[in-house]
Amino acid sequence: MSMGAFTSLSGIYDPLSDKSYYDQYLKFILKAIEDYSKIPVSDILDLGCGTGSLSVLLENEGYGMVCVDNSVEMLSIARERSEGLLLINQSIADFELFGTVQAAISTLDTFNYLLSKRDVERCIKLTRNYLEAGGVFVFDVNTKYRYEHCYGERCFVYETDGGDTLIWENEYKEPIHSLILTTFKKRSDGAFEKGSEIQTQRLYPIELIKDILERNGFSVLGIFGGTDRSEMTEMSEKAYFVARKEI
Ligand SMILES: C[S@@+](CC[C@H](N)C(=O)[O-])C[C@H]1O[C@@H](n2cnc3c(N)ncnc32)[C@H](O)[C@@H]1O
Repeated sequence: MSMGAFTSLSGIYDPLSDKSYYDQYLKFILKAIEDYSKIPVSDILDLGCGTGSLSVLLENEGYGMVCVDNSVEMLSIARERSEGLLLINQSIADFELFGTVQAAISTLDTFNYLLSKRDVERCIKLTRNYLEAGGVFVFDVNTKYRYEHCYGERCFVYETDGGDTLIWENEYKEPIHSLILTTFKKRSDGAFEKGSEIQTQRLYPIELIKDILERNGFSVLGIFGGTDRSEMTEMSEKAYFVARKEI
């Protein structure tokens, strides 16, 4: 039986993640804060924090981290990684915080998991509410190129060092992308436990996201094709946004 998104995948998400990509993303975020924030930053909101990979890296840089995610499984791994993260199990389209932050991030396709423009707008509006004026909002979205040419209808198979396997099948019917994920986790007795889940993402045109940001008091300071701040091209797989709350 298929389970909810980020349930069976949670246990093998980290072993399959590219650590060097998180290091590059960390530099991108730190440079965005340094170059564009008009205010000193002490607390950062991580929307769709997952297992906390970036939250932990930012916490190590001295920031207080407020982390929102709707997967209990992903949050419990984040908790194992750090006691210091403030973890909140809510939807990024409908969340409530106890106070304000001076920067916000949302990384690795999290925005594409919002399946309606209304939810994207709600997420941006709420981020605006809790972000102090002058603070930056850094996030990424997948591009049409990535959905059509990198995922398409392809199937990928990954194996972790611990012997767990992920079979990842893709289906794309613009604007909806489905990821059909089957996991085989190796148990201590050597047998494999099978899990499956279907995740759904949605393509959002970059202009639409830019428009929603600008209508909600953000200025868009950069839309980059990579964490090295390279320009967007027709073959960019992601768009990396740096926006700032102006009012
Ligand atoms: C691809 S993971 C990225 C996790 C993390 N940002 C990272 O960089 O590793 C997407 C995360 O977004 C979370 N997510 C998806 N839709 C969400 C929603 N509506 N509200 C809160 N979290 C959501 C998932 O549970 C998952 O942890």
